[in-house]
Amino acid sequence: MILVAPSILSANFAHLGEDIRKVEEAGTDWLHVDVMDGHFVPNLTIGPQVVADIRSRSELFFDIHLMVEKPESLIAAFVEAGADLLTVHYESCPHLHRVVHMIKDAGIKAGVALNPASSIMLLEDIISELDLLLLMSVNPGFGGQSFIPGVLDKINKARKLLESTGSTTYLQVDGGINLETGRQAVEAGCNVLVAGSYVFKSPEPGEAVKSLKNLGSS
Ligand code: DX5
Ligand code: ZN
Repeated sequence: MILVAPSILSANFAHLGEDIRKVEEAGTDWLHVDVMDGHFVPNLTIGPQVVADIRSRSELFFDIHLMVEKPESLIAAFVEAGADLLTVHYESCPHLHRVVHMIKDAGIKAGVALNPASSIMLLEDIISELDLLLLMSVNPGFGGQSFIPGVLDKINKARKLLESTGSTTYLQVDGGINLETGRQAVEAGCNVLVAGSYVFKSPEPGEAVKSLKNLGSS
């Protein structure tokens, strides 16, 4: 089964609740929330208060992608705000094992993200402890960038690594996903598709979600 996680980074924040309602009614699985601090990536987005506010209006699974330095300092606040899963970047965590277990000890799921230039083998010794592995298919920081095709090979390698350990860890791809790149990512072995512009810049966000969901049955 393919899960779809629309990224609210490309929603219109003047009517964020309405945009979320559209994808929720269309049967989306998760909601992807991009948190950026202006240091780890050159952009600023939202914090725990926005997550708490949308939590009060939505039953969706909240998939929070932390593109920040020292993500451990924000775990408690995002758990309190209603996160179901927190993903941290390998590149921002010198003590990754500790951070992953801080998230799990807080009672929610833990994910780790890899930038396009980071090898999958960097996670070989922790992959069995992860609920989710996120492979970035753009350099993080902005929505609307083009999918980097070389990431398909990494998705393939990650799928083989997960299979070799019998792991049920979610394999997520994020960046430049549309119907075509989504199909390629699914063929390579992904089972969670993040999509920002493809969903929220579409005249019919709900239909865009359904078209990605259908990749799981084609
Ligand atoms: C990029 C973010 C992505 C972004 C995806 O740093 O992590 O989640 O919102 O947007 P699109 O789908 O437009 O590339
Ligand atoms: Zn993201």
